[in-house]
Amino acid sequence: MSALRESEFVGSLDCGTTSTRFIVFDQHANIVAQSQEEFPQYYPNPGWHEHDATEIQEVCDKVIEQAIAKLEEAGYKRSSIKVIGVTNQRETTVVWSRKTGKPLSRAIVWDDSRTRGVVSHYAHLLKTQGIKVNGQVRSGADGAEGLKELTGLPLSTYFSAIKLRWMIDNWEDVRGAHEADDLAFGTVESWIAYNLLGGVSAGQHISEVTNASRTLLLNIRTLEWDPALLHFFGIRESVLPRLVSTSEVYGNLAYGPLKGVPLGGLVGDQQGALIGNKCLTQGQAKCTYGTGAFLLFCTGPDIIYSNHGLLSTVAYRVGSQGKPVYALEGAIAVAGSAIKWLRDSMKMIKTADEINTLAGSVSSTSGVYFVTAFSGLLAPYWDPGATGLLVGLTSYTTPAHIARATLEANAFQTHAVIESMKLDSKSDLAHLKVDGGMTNGDVAMQVLADVGGFEVVRPEMRESTALGSALLAGAAIGLFGWDITRPETLARVNTARSTYFAPRLREEERGEAWRGWLRAVDRSRGW
Ligand code: G3P
Repeated sequence: MSALRESEFVGSLDCGTTSTRFIVFDQHANIVAQSQEEFPQYYPNPGWHEHDATEIQEVCDKVIEQAIAKLEEAGYKRSSIKVIGVTNQRETTVVWSRKTGKPLSRAIVWDDSRTRGVVSHYAHLLKTQGIKVNGQVRSGADGAEGLKELTGLPLSTYFSAIKLRWMIDNWEDVRGAHEADDLAFGTVESWIAYNLLGGVSAGQHISEVTNASRTLLLNIRTLEWDPALLHFFGIRESVLPRLVSTSEVYGNLAYGPLKGVPLGGLVGDQQGALIGNKCLTQGQAKCTYGTGAFLLFCTGPDIIYSNHGLLSTVAYRVGSQGKPVYALEGAIAVAGSAIKWLRDSMKMIKTADEINTLAGSVSSTSGVYFVTAFSGLLAPYWDPGATGLLVGLTSYTTPAHIARATLEANAFQTHAVIESMKLDSKSDLAHLKVDGGMTNGDVAMQVLADVGGFEVVRPEMRESTALGSALLAGAAIGLFGWDITRPETLARVNTARSTYFAPRLREEERGEAWRGWLRAVDRSRGW
């Protein structure tokens, strides 16, 4: 083999819900090398979804090794990677022992809905006992408003504090460690950073603010853990990581082929995609269709509190003294996972992409609606009691109609979120930038435009999540002149062209379909 060349690249470790990838980018966001691996999913009971945190870390290490091998095959030295960033599935809750550095239980995944009872309990407490916001107790009907003002979030099975509470109440090892102040709690970035930076011997227990803003423990205004929230959920302060920003050098990798390379970016995957799409300032939005679908609308330095079922969340903070930038978010729990269900459980398709061929073989669902509420409904409905519902079936119905209804479910939910976003942000959305695995299919995108009633813009380079974390990491060491706070410095990054999908349905047809969807959603609730 000829001598390897030295260059300058950024690595991005993207740890999603079902798979992990490591991508090496150059300064224009061209992909130089990459590797991806799925990891095991555990569904021990209906509505439960768990991960093995050790397996997550192992797959991270594996994809890094594989991508580095490919980088060298492509003729570059591994030392060309100057910095790495990590981006991750959010809310998934990991607990480990401070003494041993080992997980104390399985991780509870963000879309797990076992904690419905915990939510009801705290909803009751919010009303009766209330919560302290700026020194004032807010209770009764105002309790939920108080919680929203503190955290930007509603009470839901989705967020980490609820999962952590369930773990402490139901798993003896976790309870014991909590009582003995041996419990370390973290979302996935926290766990990965802990390991990459040296594990138990280094003891780097950190959490990044976009991830922390999804725990129900962070004060979204001060960006500090809030004692009132810890008190409310009965969680000890000793479990918490130290808060860090989205872009700064947290330390150097302690092992593996990239030993010594700085870790310069940590970010929740949906915020990562917002940054990767360069939606850095007020009014810009994107929607990522992965396991779930997540539409984020950047609101700049202002926190906009939703009155229409959206979340207020941190979009990014550059450096520990940096000013936070916020976003409104519409989270849809089920998108790609419904296609995975058609493939793995219903055996209707062999590969995920096949849904496009199948759905494209019919021109409508012929009256079939599929409310994909496998773990309740998130935005804008927030109903943990909703269940999946297929309705409108006749003996004429074929798998093709169900496949098309699955794509439409995605589009209807996106439409609902966009309507809320328009009302909350008081601005219109001319088009929607999309990315994520599900956007590879043209049929899926045309259905989205038709049913959604907006233009869909699909960039050619769609690894926006990984790119976002690469940009944050590069910026942390001043590589390529990237500066997240000055979008003009990113002008030459990812300039590839986009494909546009314009809505083709007539307004009346869209209206009729929408009314049918609303009836179907109604029936899926309170089952
Ligand atoms: O909030 C959950 C989200 O971060 C998961 O993202 O891409 O794994 O579906 P994804």
